[in-house]
Amino acid sequence: MSREQLISMTRNLIAHGAADTMEYADDIVRVPASTYTDPALFELEKRNIFRRLPLMVAPSCELPEPGDYKAMDICGVPLLLARQRDGAAAAFLNMCSHRGNPVVADGTGNASRFTCGYHGWTFKNDGDLVGVASAKDFGAVDKAALCLKRFPVHESAGLIWATLDLDSKLSIADYLCGYDDLLSAFGFDGWTLFARRTLSGPNWKTAYDGYLDFYHLPVLHKDTFGADFYNRANYFFWGPHQRLSAPSKMATRVGSDVEEDLSLLGDSEIPDDALLSGVWTIFPHISIASFYGGGQRGAMISQLFPGGSVGESFTTQYYVMENQPETEADIKSAHEQFDFLEVVVRDEDYATGKRQHEALQSGMLKEVLFGKNERGGQVFHEWAAKLANANDEELLEIFAAEQREAAE
Ligand code: FES
Ligand SMILES: [Fe+2]
Repeated sequence: MSREQLISMTRNLIAHGAADTMEYADDIVRVPASTYTDPALFELEKRNIFRRLPLMVAPSCELPEPGDYKAMDICGVPLLLARQRDGAAAAFLNMCSHRGNPVVADGTGNASRFTCGYHGWTFKNDGDLVGVASAKDFGAVDKAALCLKRFPVHESAGLIWATLDLDSKLSIADYLCGYDDLLSAFGFDGWTLFARRTLSGPNWKTAYDGYLDFYHLPVLHKDTFGADFYNRANYFFWGPHQRLSAPSKMATRVGSDVEEDLSLLGDSEIPDDALLSGVWTIFPHISIASFYGGGQRGAMISQLFPGGSVGESFTTQYYVMENQPETEADIKSAHEQFDFLEVVVRDEDYATGKRQHEALQSGMLKEVLFGKNERGGQVFHEWAAKLANANDEELLEIFAAEQREAAE
């Protein structure tokens, strides 16, 4: 099923590539400039998007073994992810049920239990409260009622999602609209984490815009990707999640320099790299793109979060690889690939985004434009506004409608 969809997208790209065309949006779209600068809207987005929708919180390979954990703050919510004994991922509110201190500091590690650093209460990594310090002095408590609180969690396609709303009724699978089936073609569930770093960026939507068009590639990235880079993309949608890829009938296989004419290949001969080309974004904050370095397939997974104020965000870049590179030369080349992408994003995309944000803060430009060739940004802003403004019932109905549409 998912391979069929990948092939039909690839055929679409080949046909447009051969005809030297692309699919356009109906019209140019205007977005109020305040969308990027309004602190009240920013608070609404943190509450109704980041603290209410499923977020891709970690690639599975960041927590490969039972006992592996990661603690992080997302928009003020302390999250603790822990790989259980049976291999399942669990997501907890990282707050001790005694008085709320996080039971483990932000970061990653491996532990079968967490002992709170304030008064010493101890929790197993499945969230159970197993030890109340000086229990007799404290007084009798119902330990079963004082476990760590669990967030909804979902793991598929080698990625882990959690919803930072303890009462969420939105099914994470429904939210994904079948998109994770397609993402599973990357094979991330068997991959490894090579390296990870976090960069600071501008307003989260200013930063995210840059992942949603190819229009800027040969201009902003002329010194890195090159001024000849193709600037057209076709867009494919699954609910708010989208893939953009350049129409092309040519492709190069991993480890080869030879361009092949895809229009001459049968469905079973189309290489995986062509099927997965372009940028895959997961609303509201993830972008995935394939790269090669270290002698094998790799991908950059960029995970974006709003920062402390409307003009700030931070992005964790995970460089995942099919296998860990082993030789010195391969390790060096994987680092070079990863470092190159840091330079592109930090010094070109985000440096521009920060200047753009400062200028928009002047309030002197009332609206910004998304062309017919920038359908990704058009659709992203439409979804961001729709989901930020929906109440909880409307949110469920939006994704129920997506399910009904997909079933038709
Ligand atoms: S807050 Fe954790 S033991 Fe007191
Ligand atoms: Fe860019």
